[in-house]
Parts: sequence; C-alpha cells; structure tokens
Amino acid sequence: MKATAIANSNIAFVKYWGKKDEFSNLPMNPSISMTLDENLSTKTTVEFSDKYEEDVLILNSEKYSDSKLVRVSNFLDKMRKLSGVIYHAKVVSENSFPTGTGIASSASGFAALAAASSKALGLNLSDKELSGLARQGSGSACRSVYGGFVVWDDEFSIQFKDELFWPELRDILVIVDKDEKKISSRDAMKHTVQTSSLYKKRLQALLDIIRRVKAAIGSKDFQSLAHEIMNESDSLHACIKDTVPKVEYLNEASYRIIELVKKLNSVSTIAAYTFDAGPNAHIITLEQYVPGIKKEMLKLFGVQLIESRPGRGIRYSEEHLL
Ligand code: DP6
Repeated sequence: MKATAIANSNIAFVKYWGKKDEFSNLPMNPSISMTLDENLSTKTTVEFSDKYEEDVLILNSEKYSDSKLVRVSNFLDKMRKLSGVIYHAKVVSENSFPTGTGIASSASGFAALAAASSKALGLNLSDKELSGLARQGSGSACRSVYGGFVVWDDEFSIQFKDELFWPELRDILVIVDKDEKKISSRDAMKHTVQTSSLYKKRLQALLDIIRRVKAAIGSKDFQSLAHEIMNESDSLHACIKDTVPKVEYLNEASYRIIELVKKLNSVSTIAAYTFDAGPNAHIITLEQYVPGIKKEMLKLFGVQLIESRPGRGIRYSEEHLL
C-alpha cells in the first residue's frame, strides 16, 4: 500500500484569509491562484503497513515528531476513516527547493500527501474530491491539485484556465528571509477575523475583485491583472496589520521590494508584487521582463530568486522515496 505523488506550490492573486470552519478549513472567501512549476514542488511517498507502530514523517531527510507530525497524522486519520484501513503510515517528503529558505510548503505538501495517500489506499478519487481532501490538510493546498489558474470557493477548487493558457506569465519568488514564520497563517487569520474592522470591508469587495481578476486573466490583460494583484496584497496586509494585537509579516526588505516594483512600473506596468504570510515577495511578470527584474532584485542585499511558470497539477510517480 504505497504510492508517490508530486504537487506544485501556488501563488494566490486573491488570497484566502479566514475560516468559516476551523476543522475543515472552509474559507470565508473565494480565492484565485496560479499553480507554480517544478521549481516549487513537493514529492511525497506514503506507505500504509502493519509494520509501522505509529505514523512516521521524514521531511527533507529529517525525522519530525513535533506539531508537523501531528498535523500529518490528523490528516492521515481522515484518510484512514475514508478507506477503512487502520494501518499507520510512513510519509517521506522532499521539496524541490532548498531547505531553510523559509518557503511555506503546506500547499504543495498537503496536495501531494492527499494524492499519494489516497492512491496508496486504493481510493479512486476525482480531482474535485482530492481538492476537498487537500483543503482539510491546508486550505491553500486544494488549489494545487490543478495546474494553471485555479479558483477555490467553499469546499472545492476548480480550474479556470490550464497551465498552457498564458505561458508567458512568470512568478519570481524573492526570498529575503530564510526563517520559518513566527505567527502561523492559521493563528493570524483567526485574529484578523475576530479583531480587524477592515476585514469586513475586504470580504464585501472580494467577489468583484475575483471577477475582475478572472476577466484580466481571460483576456491576458497584464496591466489590469498586475494592479488587481498589488491592491489585493496591500488590502490583505492592511487587514493583518489592523488586528489587535497587530501582526506584521512584511519587513524592511519587503518594503524595499515594493518601492522597487513601483519604480520599475513608472513608465508602464511590467511587474506586480504579492506577499503571503511572510516577508518573501512573489513578483508576477511576463517572460520578456524577467532578466531586467532579476537584475534589479539581485541588487538588493542577500536575496535569493526562484523563477517559475504556470505549472501542472498533481501527478504520480513510480520512483518512490521509500
Ligand atoms: C496568505 O493555506 O497555509 O498564503 O488552511 O491554515 O493551512 P491553513 O492556511 P494556509 O494559508 C494560506 C494563506 C495565504 C493566502 C493563500 O494562499 O490564499
């Protein structure tokens, strides 16, 4: 009972922030993302067997017995319940990007875990069902089931356009801080929903924003897309800062990147910045602008860049990690 799956990370243009249901990660709002490519992916092998006396988690060659294992074990419990299999499992997982880069891998991680564990258990699930399961591991993971541009609303995600639709689009991840985030998005979301007064306004505006982002992608209107992406990132981080006590994910380097993107856009819009729950920036741009943008970003002290195209959804491999 062993299977291996690979899933890529994704970057949200309109972000999921807030849960209607804490236990199953039902979101307060719809979100839309671009699935990234192999440069930001997770490969996971899961084996269920009576030879394991407890669940085992090996992540990037390191054995974990902390909260990461608890989260994986809780997810495996859901899979065991669904399949009727009671065995413990060994999970071996590797990221394609260097460890210690501070990149959150819960999206690619739980998408790969959902796919590998359901295949290992012989469950024949549709992508839709897989997205519903991956969501229960980590909300944003449900969008990584599909390639290209993906909308997540409530229980499931659906593909809006595939990865070949806009092949010139690029994401440049600018890593400015290699530490793991100090406040989990899970906790920060909760604080925002409970205490931010800006958050209510954000929720009211989001349906229109999703509509505009879909229209910009559908017509490959980069300028409009870039403006929507930056406004959305600003709006999210304004809400996060508006919490009591205040949370701030961006640091000085993040603000330097924002200023740099504004400068690069002074003649016409060639790039958009967006930030998740951390200081590292994602720069969305077009292929033709990548060399110039990278050159400018590398002038900032100590940054590391990972470039990515619109990427594929989950796939399976016979090259197991255990
Ligand atoms: C800012 O999916 O990591 O990246 O459901 O608690 O695991 P949990 O949260 P997670 O949150 C992602 C937040 C975000 C926005 C997004 O990707 O949509």
